[in-house]
Amino acid sequence: MCGIIGYIGGRQATPLLVGGLRKLEYRGYDSAGVSVFNNGTSKVVRCRGKLANLEAKLLEDPAPGTVGIGHTRWATHGRPSDENSHPHKVGPISVIHNGIIENHLQLRAELAASGSKFSSETDTEIFAHLVAREIKTAENLTLAVRRALAKVRGSYAFVVMSDHEPQTLVAAKNSSPLVIGLGENENFIASDVTAILAETRKVIFIEEGEIVTVTREAVAITDLEGKPVTRAPKTITWSAVQAEKGGFKHFMLKEIHEQPRAVADTLVGRVDLEHDDVLLDGVTLDVTKIKRIVFVACGTSYHASMVGEFMIEALARIPVEVEIASEFRYRDPIIGAGDLVIAVSQSGETLDTMEAVREAKKRGAQVLAISNVLESSIPRLADHAFYTHAGPEIGVASTKAFTTQLVAMALVAIYLGKRTKTLSNERARALLAELVQLPQKMRDIVEGGAQLQVLARRYGGAHGFLFLGRGSQYPIALEGALKLKEISYIHAEGYPAGEMKHGPIALIDENLPVVVLAPRGPFYEKVVSNLAEVRARQGKVLAIATKGDNEIGGHADDVVLVPDTALELQPILTVLPLQMLSYYVADGKGTDVDQPRNLAKSVTVE
Ligand code: G6P
Repeated sequence: MCGIIGYIGGRQATPLLVGGLRKLEYRGYDSAGVSVFNNGTSKVVRCRGKLANLEAKLLEDPAPGTVGIGHTRWATHGRPSDENSHPHKVGPISVIHNGIIENHLQLRAELAASGSKFSSETDTEIFAHLVAREIKTAENLTLAVRRALAKVRGSYAFVVMSDHEPQTLVAAKNSSPLVIGLGENENFIASDVTAILAETRKVIFIEEGEIVTVTREAVAITDLEGKPVTRAPKTITWSAVQAEKGGFKHFMLKEIHEQPRAVADTLVGRVDLEHDDVLLDGVTLDVTKIKRIVFVACGTSYHASMVGEFMIEALARIPVEVEIASEFRYRDPIIGAGDLVIAVSQSGETLDTMEAVREAKKRGAQVLAISNVLESSIPRLADHAFYTHAGPEIGVASTKAFTTQLVAMALVAIYLGKRTKTLSNERARALLAELVQLPQKMRDIVEGGAQLQVLARRYGGAHGFLFLGRGSQYPIALEGALKLKEISYIHAEGYPAGEMKHGPIALIDENLPVVVLAPRGPFYEKVVSNLAEVRARQGKVLAIATKGDNEIGGHADDVVLVPDTALELQPILTVLPLQMLSYYVADGKGTDVDQPRNLAKSVTVE
């Protein structure tokens, strides 16, 4: 996990490092720090907590100089504390790290036996010790880093700075992302492009097992054996929209409200009404070669994938499986040619999803990535990339990324259905027309926030919630429960409504709110029966139903109505009230909605 940044040039490094870290805070916010070289030595300023704490500390204790490295942390080894904050400095060596050193216990024991003293609980400090030891005999920093890397097993993006060679930064990559930004007489190193985009558009992506030596004037890449690697820079043509709250109290609320616009952007240029078809930005998938589709994803993207399964099976009649990426990659998966793996990841950086993609590719499967972040690692690794264009999502709890993923999946499902010929032109036309109308329908829902605010006050004091749904509403029940847990810290479970009798029904009493997804459709009657089962046990029912449903009010304590749409697209609408309910419950409790405790926006460790 964590975000890393480095600068070497003629300008003051600290403001550039802090500016970059602000963009990287989505990768963790347990602590932050910088190490900046000046007058023969580097000064480390670091502290526990969010970047704002570091900024305050730097005001009192500035770190001048034109070469430096910076870090924002999501704690893996060692609790969030000042001592465990990066950079770690050992002798002349300062190190920042994103990833996990797997053999850290063994290395720590070896180093301790030869006299090393540790001042933190982190795995990263071990690497600083290793480089500090190697630098005593190595000709230069690059060589010392190469030798130290030979001892390390695990995932990493490291940046190393030495007080004895301040004209050089050395970085290395394995699994964790690393990009170099090229400037005029200055260069940058970062975890992602957005961190340096305000300064340069010319970048070089570093690949697995590469070490890069960066000076003001030059960038030299080698492999782990020291063999030079040449790679032409890329020019980034997209611009990072400056994410501001725009008058909303939280980014999450802003992003909930942005969904109609985000979905419209996902659709731009993809709906071909003339031919009742879909354009996938030049991606062509040969359906005669696809025997099965396997989704791999984590978190909210996993829930989106579960909805994708319903869409693709219904419209294209291709068998679909959905796998949690961290399970898939270690299960010796039966996968190969004939399988299309769809990797879904908002950030495009989730390590487990990335490794699942590698595993699938190694075994001969074709990979399509659905992602929100241009040029992120997973789309670059995949055979084909399809972007959701939701714009930057800052709130840790995913909202607009989720609904745009669902829209992207609907587009893929229609594309496939047309080619497997299981989807008629008429049905495709009707679905496309519904898709185009979604933004307006979503606007109607998100503008009805006042009702959800009242409901959040009514139910927000409960100690737990149950969310129920059938068919493609079951993943929405899971997503509703996840949202509530993430930001309000209230325990919640999502369940297939039909499965309630096999356990969760024991939880029901007058104190347990049950949110039931009951839009019009083939499961409506059955869901209403489940609703009655809850009410018969004094459970409180909040139903999400379709506008015009006059019956549901007789079975529920409260009802939120959403506009009607095609069955396959209903999840895109029914999830909106659940996002808003969670938001208002959490806001009522006063939690840190945008940066909830213990979480991070992008999980780049296992
Ligand atoms: C983290 C985030 C979730 C997200 C998940 C997968 O847990 O907090 O909101 O759904 O990672 O992230 P991805 O970027 O791969 O969609």
